[in-house]
Amino acid sequence: MKRAEAGNMSNGLFSHLSRGAWLLWHVVLVAGTGTKLWEVPTASFTSSFNLSEGHQWVPQCQYRHPQDGVRITADIPPRLDGTWVSTRCEVRPGPEFLTRSYTFHSSRHFQALQHYYTDSSCEEPAYSLKIWGKLRLRQASWITRGGTEAEPHLSKVGVVIHSPAARQRLASRLPSACVGPTLGQVVLGKSYELYNTRAGRGCLMALGFSMMEMGLIRVEMQHHNHRGKIQELFLGDIHTEWTQRTQYRPTGYQQPLQNAMHHIHPCPVCALVYRSSEQRPPVLPRSPAPPLSLAGRWVSQHCETRPTVLFLTRDFTFDPEQHAWEGIYQHYSDPSCSEPTFTLRASGHYAQGNPSAKILGATEVVFKVTQVRVTAMEESTAKMLNETRPGKCGQAGGWEVGVEQDLRPTDGCTVLGIKLPHKEFELFKSELDHRKQPLLFIGQRPTDGSSPDRQHRRPTSFQAPMVLCDGEERQPSHDSGSGFNSKQVQSAVSVAERLTLLLSLMFGCVLCNLLHFC
Ligand SMILES: *[C@@H]1O[C@H](CO)[C@@H](O)[C@H](O)[C@H]1NC(C)=O
Ligand SMILES: *[C@@H]1O[C@H](CO)[C@@H](O)[C@H](O)[C@H]1NC(C)=O
Repeated sequence: MKRAEAGNMSNGLFSHLSRGAWLLWHVVLVAGTGTKLWEVPTASFTSSFNLSEGHQWVPQCQYRHPQDGVRITADIPPRLDGTWVSTRCEVRPGPEFLTRSYTFHSSRHFQALQHYYTDSSCEEPAYSLKIWGKLRLRQASWITRGGTEAEPHLSKVGVVIHSPAARQRLASRLPSACVGPTLGQVVLGKSYELYNTRAGRGCLMALGFSMMEMGLIRVEMQHHNHRGKIQELFLGDIHTEWTQRTQYRPTGYQQPLQNAMHHIHPCPVCALVYRSSEQRPPVLPRSPAPPLSLAGRWVSQHCETRPTVLFLTRDFTFDPEQHAWEGIYQHYSDPSCSEPTFTLRASGHYAQGNPSAKILGATEVVFKVTQVRVTAMEESTAKMLNETRPGKCGQAGGWEVGVEQDLRPTDGCTVLGIKLPHKEFELFKSELDHRKQPLLFIGQRPTDGSSPDRQHRRPTSFQAPMVLCDGEERQPSHDSGSGFNSKQVQSAVSVAERLTLLLSLMFGCVLCNLLHFC
């Protein structure tokens, strides 16, 4: 504990990192294509405009279920028809807890249902919003490759309040003229108009409500060898800062909704959300969060998109005995995670703290980053890093594609926005997936690129969950199938673990990197 608390406070590693990486990526992009930075295509879609991309990247611990090959495609423009539902109780910055069910018609009209709750397991509905509108798809996004820019036009928003407590809370937030004669007289379970095209948006703003999330859209189709098709709808991210959220134009995504007809089975939440209405909000079954157990190696499930234009995959290893962690961030220039730009290996210590007071089942964690190593994965990134001033980012003139550099001698890297050492206040949560395998949720990064380097900046929502690699390889039943031999992996891991232990004993608390070569 003490160890992780000690040391200087300095600027945000991860978030500066995102910003730096974003700049870097753009510089690379611009250098590579000769186009202007913010030049966005102005032409709308034509029928001939159809990009279809196939995913290359798969998690490195694919041996989890080797029999289950997946191919992912995403069409531009996306096909939205149908109903899309939440797969779990969703957490938005604030925190806010909600479930969503969005229906799109081929006429481009949509009806969106949002159910808000007072608790983090979505058991106590507070109020529901029903949103009617029309969506105009505009163009492929040049800011977030793989996404489509769209423009939602709202025609009506209705609200139904479900409990006296929620009515009271809304009364303190909403101008009194918003609902009914006065909010105090509102009948629970009855629908009231909160907005229509004739009225202003004051009531929606007061709720922190907007449909800006529909400004950026991506539909992914997962073609599974044995489980058929799964469709996911990614909508724009919600700004982590409350005051920004109704104006913010998304550049990343929220956790996806799944198509009601093509979702992962079993999904009891999907069925409940699908059958809900604004009068009958879904009450999700209680599923106690498993205790947070970080030990082992956790990886991204898919290629992830971050706000401010980053495509990346994450690979974390935690060693609770040494309070040590290592995170490998592999950055890419494309939404399929097939064109690597650079790899970042960060490591340091962590201290698991108190249960979160804001989100039941979540845990506060403090991170200390002491070492970062960077590898340029392609020529233009190497060149760019190579041209930094001496003393600012590793060994100037020493950058080469595929050669790792330690950033400690320069206390970080200015151009990547990395400063060492560095401390962050985090929020973690664990959940079980549909196969009862553990998922790890790590706090969402502040959208403005700042760092959660103070208590009050600790995240209140989460990034995409990561899956545990080590868990399943202990189960020999998953040995079968093609290609990857999990026995080899297992023995490699245990050798690495022993080496780690040995090295830890020799060098104190250094977490060995060998784990990542298996
Ligand atoms: C885009 O092209 C792919 C194959 O090239 C096709 O399967 C798909 O239906 C097309 N999408 C649209 C929206 O036309
Ligand atoms: C980096 O700079 C050194 C010295 O100026 C040069 O020899 C090397 O070729 C450069 N590498 C790259 C990838 O540009």
